[in-house]
Amino acid sequence: MNIPYSEPYKIKMVEQIHKSSAKERQKWLKEANYNLFKLRSKQVFIDLLTDSGTGAMSDKQWAAIMEGDESYAGSDSFFRLKEMVRSLTGFEYFLPTHQGRAAENVLFSALIKEGDIIPGNAHFDTTKGHIEFRKAEALDCTVREAFDPDIINDFKGNLDLQKLENALKDNYKKVPFIIVTITCNTTGGQPVSIENMKAVHKLAKKYSTKVIFDSARFAENAYFIKTREEAWKDKSIKEIVREMYKYADGMTMSSKKDGLVNIGGFMAFNDKDIYEKASVFNIMFEGFLTYGGMAGRDMNALAQGLDEASEFTYLESRIKQVAYLGERLSSYGIPLLKPYGGHAIFVNATEFLPHIPREEFPAQSLAIELYLEAGIRGVELGAIMADRDPVSRKNRFPELELVRLAIPRRTYSQNHMDVVAAALKNIYERRDKIRRGVKIVKEAPILRHFTVDLERL
Ligand code: F0G
Repeated sequence: MNIPYSEPYKIKMVEQIHKSSAKERQKWLKEANYNLFKLRSKQVFIDLLTDSGTGAMSDKQWAAIMEGDESYAGSDSFFRLKEMVRSLTGFEYFLPTHQGRAAENVLFSALIKEGDIIPGNAHFDTTKGHIEFRKAEALDCTVREAFDPDIINDFKGNLDLQKLENALKDNYKKVPFIIVTITCNTTGGQPVSIENMKAVHKLAKKYSTKVIFDSARFAENAYFIKTREEAWKDKSIKEIVREMYKYADGMTMSSKKDGLVNIGGFMAFNDKDIYEKASVFNIMFEGFLTYGGMAGRDMNALAQGLDEASEFTYLESRIKQVAYLGERLSSYGIPLLKPYGGHAIFVNATEFLPHIPREEFPAQSLAIELYLEAGIRGVELGAIMADRDPVSRKNRFPELELVRLAIPRRTYSQNHMDVVAAALKNIYERRDKIRRGVKIVKEAPILRHFTVDLERL
């Protein structure tokens, strides 16, 4: 018999989570106006809202916290973190920030001006937000297959090189950089291959522009390269990470994912000029250069976390746990985005609930059902999140209407995954009886999903 994969750690501390009754959940969800963001965490049993900042730290990270140096300037913790980032990526210049979108704010303040075009692979919301806020355009150049849930392709995060070259050919003077998101969250946690990174970098050099990696899940991307890209199968994760960053001029990072910490972010570059420009904004928006919105102890925990996240045994158990949930759900016939992502499973809600029209928000309706069934919180990635068109004010209906089940790192057991799978199976079996969705009763003009009030129809 094959010995199954298992977690390369054991449990030293536990946190109570709360089971509730169906009646309690009905009441709480009604009070929250059917918006899962408005629930209190104590009302949730298994929380798959996000994998961001929700993971568990190791004993070594907690030990590193005790050794944090809280000096305003020249903190030892800063140098420890900077050295870890340099050894992983090769980047000499480093700036800490309080989280990923703060790194975007600082870097884009330095590099983007009105009318610019920033090509990339399905930019993450905050990335797009920070580009559009500066009256520039986030131009999506992701490969077409990424938007077809049934096409199995190893690297659905890749950029379409022809599309990218067309954009560069016409506008290269307006492109301060290309942004490559590894793994690509928006297309379902899908990786980018080394081959694609190399080709994007080559095009960038041809048209005298730069490449920045949005690196929130860089280690998960490296795992997919090792297991899917033949040339890299015998290399260690750290060797692959080093290779990946040869094809970037800089990076932004949300440390809340593959940094294995609860808060934090940073930028790193090999270009002194970018560093100097960004430094000015970092001091204004984040803090002095050697802390940038982070406590010394948190920089220590992050340095240790980056080291642990870029180890194969950890990544294997992480990605296989996500795939385990995917396999369970697939075996029940539940429609999912494939291949399974690195950090989450995405349920195709329009196929799951075909009777509910798009105007009644099937993904939100499914997320509501899942909470009512077993106290599990996922998140809608569909028409509510897509907001209204800024000009026509009509609802936008994205190509895919999904519920994301994001798995926090080192937090839940295989048994919890079985609970999630069983709950969705129960809903799937009674799906014909779910014929109506929800309607919006109150919404904010932008980013409405966080605060929207809904009514069940
Ligand atoms: N880039 C990517 C690819 C992300 O997934 C996120 C956050 C950010 C940047 C912004 O980082 O939250 O530290 O400011 N993603 C979270 C999520 C929120 O749930 O997917 P942040």
